[in-house]
Amino acid sequence: MNTYFEQNKGRFLEELMDLLRIPSISADSKYKKDVLRTAEFIKEKLEKAGADKVELCQTAGFPIVYGEKIINKNLPTVLVYGHYDVQPPDPYELWDSPPFEPVIKDEKIYARGACDDKGQMYMHLKAFEIMMQTNSLPCNVKFMIEGEEEVGSSNLEIFVEKNKARLASDVILISDTGMIANDIPSITVGLRGLSYLEVEVTGPNRDLHSGLYGGAVPNPINVLCEMIASLHDSDRRITVEGFYDEVAELSKKEREEMAKAPFSLEEYKKSIGLKDVIGEKGYTTLERVSIRPTLDVNGIWGGYIGEGAKTVIPSKAYAKISMRLVPNQVSAKITELFKKHFLKIAPPSVTVEVRPHHGGEPVVTPIDSIAYQAASAAYETTFGKKPIPQRGGGSIPIVEMFKSKLKIDSVLMGFGLDSDAIHSPNEHYGVFNYFKGIETIPHFYQNYAKMMAQK
Ligand code: BES
Ligand code: MN
Ligand code: MN
Repeated sequence: MNTYFEQNKGRFLEELMDLLRIPSISADSKYKKDVLRTAEFIKEKLEKAGADKVELCQTAGFPIVYGEKIINKNLPTVLVYGHYDVQPPDPYELWDSPPFEPVIKDEKIYARGACDDKGQMYMHLKAFEIMMQTNSLPCNVKFMIEGEEEVGSSNLEIFVEKNKARLASDVILISDTGMIANDIPSITVGLRGLSYLEVEVTGPNRDLHSGLYGGAVPNPINVLCEMIASLHDSDRRITVEGFYDEVAELSKKEREEMAKAPFSLEEYKKSIGLKDVIGEKGYTTLERVSIRPTLDVNGIWGGYIGEGAKTVIPSKAYAKISMRLVPNQVSAKITELFKKHFLKIAPPSVTVEVRPHHGGEPVVTPIDSIAYQAASAAYETTFGKKPIPQRGGGSIPIVEMFKSKLKIDSVLMGFGLDSDAIHSPNEHYGVFNYFKGIETIPHFYQNYAKMMAQK
């Protein structure tokens, strides 16, 4: 292995720990200063690693860190995307150690953002540093690290529109997904889209005594629960009219190919403490979490939830609902269909409001591209095994945006594991995965530059 890498491994880990100490929670305005401090941190490290034109690009929200190294205009250009913001750590009390005081336990780094996406994003800065220090960067590279991914990347679209020339590149390289296992490498070749919205059901104009009024007036919580329950039928298909109209069905062959991926339902259930799984009839668990759309309640509230009992019929009830989308569903269209349906099923006794939040479009990335072949060969070198292409269930809105706005495909070289507990308490990232990523990325650059030259 590269001696520069060997000699600097300790520092690479220390730097990641420093990065993880900054609570860059984009969703919570209390942490605004910390999010900005994180952008500064990335800017400084990118400069130190040898990037030129490093700059904090201001947006209506948090800045985007940009930097580049153009070694020869005639060579191909890789655009690295990642995010420096993290999810809120709540519930705090379920963490075994504080979320922003990273610790290494059993060869894993525990902290919010350890895997999603600080650990994975930072691998790219270190891989770049190695290539710069060992004079082995074989093509041009641009970095675009944003601070609003966890809140929907809403200002990124404007930035991309306004900076098409600056962002011009041949491929986008992202590490913000996972792989099957440390000894079963895989490359994510698709992401689901998202429609996220909030609903509000109003019954009486004030909270009422449930004895005086109960039985004669609509209880918005009861009504909301009935409405939500009706959103799936007995086959667990979503009942919103037109919801499946644009869904691309996979061919039998494609599904057979998918089914070859190693997966144990028993282990899956065990890992999340479930007695049984559920899901859309006619599809396997792997299919349900990748090629099929979903509808889930993310939160529901209303009425009295304090200590003891209070006999009350609340005036209002609320829920946050998300739908994961697959090709060729369109986020805005699905949000509209949901709204129409939800208002239609509301009983006349209540008032219902539907408020859309952010969204994102589904995407599939090619496996016959030079970039995919270059990534595949890189994994083969460092893992000793060819990676398995696999569609992912999560969403990274920018991937489809890059494709439609810049006409550039992404390669999703994720090194996380499903068990890393991203967005959950005790998020962690394997030290193995961090170093394996740093080791694998330069091979991608080498293979890509070589294969592009032979094209
Ligand atoms: N990195 C994740 C997405 C992800 C994780 C995709 C693992 C595939 C495998 C990203 O940071 C994320 O959490 N995205 C959000 C969407 C966003 C619009 C808030 C998501 O998927 O919920
Ligand atoms: Mn992420
Ligand atoms: Mn995330």
